[in-house]
Amino acid sequence: MKRIVSGIKPTGTLTLGNYLGAIKQFVKLQQKMTDCEFYLFVADLHAITVRQVPHELRKRILDIAAMYIACGLDKDRTVLYIQSEVMQNVELGYILQSNVYMGELERMTQFKDKTAKNETSITSSLFTYPALMAADIILYDADYVPVGDDQKQHLELTRTIANRFNNHYGDFFTVPEPLIPEVGARIMDLQNPEKKMSKSDSNEKGYITLFDDPATIKRKIKSAVTDSIGIVNYDPKNQRGLANLLTIYASITDRKIEDIVKQYEDSNYKQFKEDLGQAIVDVLQPIQEKYNAIVKSSELQEILNNGREIATNYAFKKMRKCKRKVGLGRK
Ligand code: AMP
Ligand code: TRP
Repeated sequence: MKRIVSGIKPTGTLTLGNYLGAIKQFVKLQQKMTDCEFYLFVADLHAITVRQVPHELRKRILDIAAMYIACGLDKDRTVLYIQSEVMQNVELGYILQSNVYMGELERMTQFKDKTAKNETSITSSLFTYPALMAADIILYDADYVPVGDDQKQHLELTRTIANRFNNHYGDFFTVPEPLIPEVGARIMDLQNPEKKMSKSDSNEKGYITLFDDPATIKRKIKSAVTDSIGIVNYDPKNQRGLANLLTIYASITDRKIEDIVKQYEDSNYKQFKEDLGQAIVDVLQPIQEKYNAIVKSSELQEILNNGREIATNYAFKKMRKCKRKVGLGRK
């Protein structure tokens, strides 16, 4: 049986970018690939590579777990767990650090971007992050990893590390393939369509969170940057802001960009934005209701306990063999 693995860091609030780039794809895959196993985790160890406020982090870990379910994942077909609750992730992360080179880590754009912004307090774990990420994936022999476009480079490095390990120690890890959505892999900031929509962004108007109320969502879409051309058309070069809104529209409604462009042929940005705002509200409202119902429930706790058990079971066996391969231990 093929296995699909992915994770999200509990840093800041979840945005529409996370939903369209990652969570929604995951839900769709689950509906489509009925013969696959789905492992999904909250990447809390990755979150602490930058300073977090403990009680906020703890809350966000559960928020993400609850949101996964609220967004439509089938809890009976998902192994949902918290990364730090399966020790073997860290154990393999360390072994993989010894199979990745400084030069490779230095080339990671996510690391370069983060260090450019915050030059004084870069932790060593931020630097070695891709080794832990590789461990998250290959520990469970993932076949596919659905992620947004920004994670492509990390996935390539994961493949390099897996291949290197296999070449050196003999075939052992499955080499995973990334699954990047055709539409929605890179949702851009609403105020600055040159950069990706991100929860660590300081300008609130630039992103929509999965917790925003209807009025806020509509207001943010209304004030999204467009252009003075005034015609609804998909032209990422000259109408970047609008192209991003069209991408969001297509991705959230599962429609084709061309069809939407056609619909607004004789219309204007105002109408287009109003409809888009409503389309987002229509999707997020039921998700929020479900989230509220589950986040404090004992059901969520049970799902996470169960997920921890299944993930640990697999990870424990895999690590025992892995350590033997590497020559660690007594026999
Ligand atoms: P992160 O929040 O950085 O842990 O990302 C979780 C997942 O959401 C990853 O698969 C990212 O690629 C995806 N993601 C984050 N931001 C965006 C965005 N603006 N557009 C599309 N996907 C995104
Ligand atoms: N690094 C990813 C991000 O920033 C989150 C993540 C950690 C992840 N481990 C993973 C995603 C394993 C997929 C698979 O978005």
